[in-house]
Amino acid sequence: MLATGKGEFMTEFGEPPATITPYPDGPLIVRGAFELCELDGTPIPRSGKTVALCRCGRSALKPFCDGSHKLAAGNGRSGPG
Ligand code: FES
Repeated sequence: MLATGKGEFMTEFGEPPATITPYPDGPLIVRGAFELCELDGTPIPRSGKTVALCRCGRSALKPFCDGSHKLAAGNGRSGPG
């Protein structure tokens, strides 16, 4: 990781480093430069720079979130409250 001199950091490829945000009762949102791989190191294709990773275990699209966590919560919301 490289410092930009503006209080920011970039990867060696000029992209911001990845951030991971856990959503209450929902997925982990991963943004930025990262690679998602199977246990054997095989890259898992993704369509964008932001992905939602399932952490409830109910998704039919693992490792990605398919929204099934909302059914488990019973209230249709993924946020607090
Ligand atoms: S976190 Fe969304 S389906 Fe598991």
